[in-house]
Amino acid sequence: MSPHVGVIGSINADLSVGVERHPRPGETILGTGGQLSPGGKGGNQALAAARQGAETMMIGAIGSDSHADAATRLLREAGVNLDHVVTVPGPTGLAIVAVDADGENNIIVVPGANARLTPDHIKAAHEALGTCTVAVIQGEIPTETIIFASATLERLGVRQILNLAPVLSLPMSVLKRSDPLVVNEHEAAQILAAAHTGVLPFTPAEGTGHGPKLAAALVKTGIKSAIVTLGAAGAALATNQGVIQIEAPEVEATDTTGAGDAFVGALAAAVAHGADLPTACNQAVRVAAFSVQGHGAQNSYPTTNDTLPTNLAAGPHDLRPAEARWS
Ligand code: RIB
Repeated sequence: MSPHVGVIGSINADLSVGVERHPRPGETILGTGGQLSPGGKGGNQALAAARQGAETMMIGAIGSDSHADAATRLLREAGVNLDHVVTVPGPTGLAIVAVDADGENNIIVVPGANARLTPDHIKAAHEALGTCTVAVIQGEIPTETIIFASATLERLGVRQILNLAPVLSLPMSVLKRSDPLVVNEHEAAQILAAAHTGVLPFTPAEGTGHGPKLAAALVKTGIKSAIVTLGAAGAALATNQGVIQIEAPEVEATDTTGAGDAFVGALAAAVAHGADLPTACNQAVRVAAFSVQGHGAQNSYPTTNDTLPTNLAAGPHDLRPAEARWS
């Protein structure tokens, strides 16, 4: 079977503005830009996978407004199969993205059509989903649709990657099917707190720097494999064989919007091509590092013709034993 990635998720139009620094509550500041560009975690991941050479199909919902076209433009150009992207009355998902001088972003998402993606839409795409080698789901669509999609993929025998961003309250059975679960440190801490794994007290502010421990703790809850993305520090990967940290190449960040999605899409493409998780993860950190050098989300994603930054310090990616206990 040809490597085929399915993405079940959100499609947004991103309204991006540049700011020197993010405003404090109640403060008005001046910004620059104001461009509308394609976004949404699902759309971003589908584009990243397609640009990494995977045949990609998307299940999602767009609105009946003019933003729908802007939101899907690059997906169409990249040849992503949009047969199962439905149009529903009302607005397309909209994200207000503010990027500061360090490339760090703040995002407000108005779900619009994404909130109207239902289990029936998954049912209608059943046959196409069955042709996928791997399928990716994120947290920007309704919980009942995620639960239904995950059960459908299980029945079809399709490997599933869950990017639980944002964190939603889902049954542990859904998380346990993911191989891998991909989250950042804050999301990992939230999931572990909810799973009562004994790692509390643990607040997001304390979360940074603990990627490998968080990934290992997630696997200890019964999740098949877990990746905790660490921004410029790369990613931590844990399976029941052990845990490793994969360093990211050093690059100058212009805009980190959608870097996590570049990671997930590239990971899915590599897994679909038959890569093992350490290799796929290494490729994904390189794709994400490439993406932060450009503006916006999808506009900055590399194709297979682009030269990816390399992490010269990265050694062989052997799994080493997970730490037995959180301390
Ligand atoms: O992850 C980045 C994405 O989050 C943006 O493209 C925005 O649309 C929001 O969904």
